[in-house]
Amino acid sequence: MKRTIIKLVVPAIISCVVLSVSSCDNSDHSHMDRYISHLMKKMTLEEKIGQLNLPVTGEIVTGQAQNSDVAKKICAGEVGGLFNLKGVSRIRELQELAVEQSRMGIPLLFGMDVIHGYKTVFPIPLGLSCTWDMDAIETSARIAATEASADGICWTFSPMVDVCRDPRWGRIAEGCGEDPFLGAAVAKAMVKGYQGRRMEDNREIMACVKHFALYGAPDAGRDYNTVDMSRQRMFNEYLMPYKAAVDAGAGSVMASFNEVDGIPATGNRWLMTEVLRKQWGFDGFVVSDYTGISEMIDHGMGDTTKVASLAINAGVDMDMVSEAYLSTLARSVREGKVSEKAIDRACRSILEAKYKLGLFADPYKYCSEERGERDIFTDENRRVARKIASECFVLLKNEGNVLPLERKGTIGIVGPLADSPANMAGTWSVAADLEKSVSLAEGIRSVAGDMVNVLTAKGCNLMSDPSYEVRATMFGRSLNRDGRSEDTLLKEALQIASESDVILAALGESSEMSGECSCRTDLTMPETQTRLLDALVDTGKPVVLVLFTGRPLVLTREHERVQAILNVWFGGTEAGLAIGDVLFGDVNPGGKLTTSFPKSTGQIPIHYNHKNTGRPLPDCAWFQKFRSNYLDVDNEPLYPFGYGLSYTTFQYGDIVLDKKTMDGTDEIQASIVVTNTGERDGHEVVQMYIRDLVGSVTRPVMELKGFEKVFLKAGESKTVYFRISPDLLRFYNYDLDYVYEPGDFSVMIGGNSRDLKKAVFTLL
Ligand code: NOJ
Repeated sequence: MKRTIIKLVVPAIISCVVLSVSSCDNSDHSHMDRYISHLMKKMTLEEKIGQLNLPVTGEIVTGQAQNSDVAKKICAGEVGGLFNLKGVSRIRELQELAVEQSRMGIPLLFGMDVIHGYKTVFPIPLGLSCTWDMDAIETSARIAATEASADGICWTFSPMVDVCRDPRWGRIAEGCGEDPFLGAAVAKAMVKGYQGRRMEDNREIMACVKHFALYGAPDAGRDYNTVDMSRQRMFNEYLMPYKAAVDAGAGSVMASFNEVDGIPATGNRWLMTEVLRKQWGFDGFVVSDYTGISEMIDHGMGDTTKVASLAINAGVDMDMVSEAYLSTLARSVREGKVSEKAIDRACRSILEAKYKLGLFADPYKYCSEERGERDIFTDENRRVARKIASECFVLLKNEGNVLPLERKGTIGIVGPLADSPANMAGTWSVAADLEKSVSLAEGIRSVAGDMVNVLTAKGCNLMSDPSYEVRATMFGRSLNRDGRSEDTLLKEALQIASESDVILAALGESSEMSGECSCRTDLTMPETQTRLLDALVDTGKPVVLVLFTGRPLVLTREHERVQAILNVWFGGTEAGLAIGDVLFGDVNPGGKLTTSFPKSTGQIPIHYNHKNTGRPLPDCAWFQKFRSNYLDVDNEPLYPFGYGLSYTTFQYGDIVLDKKTMDGTDEIQASIVVTNTGERDGHEVVQMYIRDLVGSVTRPVMELKGFEKVFLKAGESKTVYFRISPDLLRFYNYDLDYVYEPGDFSVMIGGNSRDLKKAVFTLL
């Protein structure tokens, strides 16, 4: 019905195109090329520039957005897409304006930050990565795509794959941690999940890998700050996940806010054209991040006209929010500062994305009213989210097997996060109905059943300083600050504790203490929470710290004092239930850290895959004069990369190599027997690391090169195999050639990056 209307009302100039594309095969590139060439011949320069414009709408307005008169602009052909607008009827309304009222009738892209789920929210990406389960991660993206597309969205600004080794940076929560190899695997899984096999189906949405590039390495861990990095480090340690997303077919890339090698990424031609397009063969389009183009003025790159021409000439196709393209590019073309060819290239790449999404064939394909009812926040989606959440929790300590809990007696849940549905979803969950998330107390009650008596108390506020709490609980995530005195709150908590057999201390960060512009210089727990925890421990009752956090925290003190720590990140809408599943042992925790947890904030940046220095500290030693170390703390993290306990135990045999040497044409197989030596079934993430012992440039002490998540029944053994090919040993040498070099290599396999079996092989 709707399609008939389009054909009748679409201006004559475009109606023939709409008719001809409706029968085309979207995977046919030559048809796409002809179709778009035909279309572009009819477009004026201004209409082409209009396609490059991405204004913001909707509820979320950050930074410098001026809510422009979007409708008027759409009709004038001055908009290529919109973002942060949700809901089928609103989206249809605006799509109708574009298709029926603008001269060319070109449909709009509707983008959104669908970061870790849509209405059904999955754990924050850092948590998701701790599952080490690529199928689960792909499934989470698939469900997010299904829900978002049912609500009119066809484009997500995800995955974020910025490698980060500095947990002061709040956006560490949105990425996959410190490792490029794992990051690459996650990037691929996410792109597959969003885009599916055929992006033109209406349950698939286009991915946008971000933030290209190096956004996770700002000086001092402060958001938007300068990045200064050698090309060696860039290529070997930071770029791999973006490239993996591109190789997986990500339809779009978002430029990062930071500078790369002295030029903001948004205006960096080397990055956007030489590396991304020429070296990597990226054939989608690049969008700026928010006002990234106009922000180049403050970077000191020139006025609006200058920075817009810098960006378009660099290869940034779409201008998010700043409208610098719209206001300057036509004049710049006339003055010869920007070639029409550059505009054509950018416009074509955006039209191609629309074509690949099938929007020319049916601009309303994401506008089905029925799908929303059927596909969003379904019982099945929530069931999957609960399962995935339970997989991402990391058991950091479990002295005396305090966990799992028995379903009996009284459990006291104490802390500012004991009963806050709004804080479960975690940062960047813009589509979530926050109050529909299951809080910890609600989840525990539901999972425990009638045999358990559950008591709750706040115990303390998030922090003593009310103004800090305001900054840390934005976007409707209030923890409802309690106006009573700290002593009164503590007294109430201790009363609850005295009536309980076991205490769950629900402490850590609020969900908005991580995420964009939520950086911290002190990563210990807020003092008022430490005071509460100490008092609870002093009761002598068993205390389990249920740790909510969006980043690695410094838990040295907590580790010494508390018997058990379960890191639950922010687990999404079903978090409360999933935490219950793990605490009561219905699910055996199997999550492993993807970032090192420091012993002290001063150790940052800290990561397992560091270089060795000429004065390394011998294994397990601490202070030695004139060695690379600190006076006040050793070099080791509190919890290393890859670490995480289980309710069972695993033992590793020795590494068996099928041969000790290989040349550039064959492979070595490494195998190891892993045995579940405990009394419960469980998952173990078996990790393989490699060290290149001698290189033409210095090489890291170890790098993750393989992993496999295995399920072992109690008492069961399995042999896990890894293939080591010469390709796995490649790195970027001094000239940035991607090579492997003959020589000796260590291979290390184990359940975390610290406790490993070792063997040596030679590449001839
Ligand atoms: C700024 C953020 O850096 C980016 O990740 C996000 O996608 C855009 N804003 C759009 O909301």
